[in-house]
Amino acid sequence: MKLRSCLIALTAAGFVVSAFFAIGGPLKYEAPPEMARFKTAPGAELVSQNCLLCHSADYVIIQPRMPRAFWEAGVKKMREKYGAPLPPENVSEVVDYLVKNYGKE
Ligand code: HEC
Repeated sequence: MKLRSCLIALTAAGFVVSAFFAIGGPLKYEAPPEMARFKTAPGAELVSQNCLLCHSADYVIIQPRMPRAFWEAGVKKMREKYGAPLPPENVSEVVDYLVKNYGKE
């Protein structure tokens, strides 16, 4: 009987200690890899080079599947409003990539 209550007490103490570390330990967060980068497809390199300068790929990835007009406006906004240094001749390739991989047609 004594041994048993001793074991129960130890187990309970174990829970308290691990709860302490679970709550008080350093908070680590790593985005799952498939969320952190652009899908491999034609144009992905161009998009990675031009669209990761100011924010993560999540800004694109978490958008609902939007039509071409949304992505056209988005890229236009990034270039004109925020100064994304995407050359004009690359705009259509980036928009195509975004519509195909993160939008709908
Ligand atoms: C010069 C910096 C810069 C570059 C380069 C850039 N963005 Fe952004 N982007 C921003 C900022 C700042 C915001 C946040 C705007 C806000 O919070 O309203 C943003 C937000 C977004 C959003 C979220 C929706 C929105 O309109 O706020 C999307 C989608 C996006 N960017 C796509 C892109 C794509 C695609 C590219 C590559 C062509 C790109 N960005 C390159 C600065 C940039």
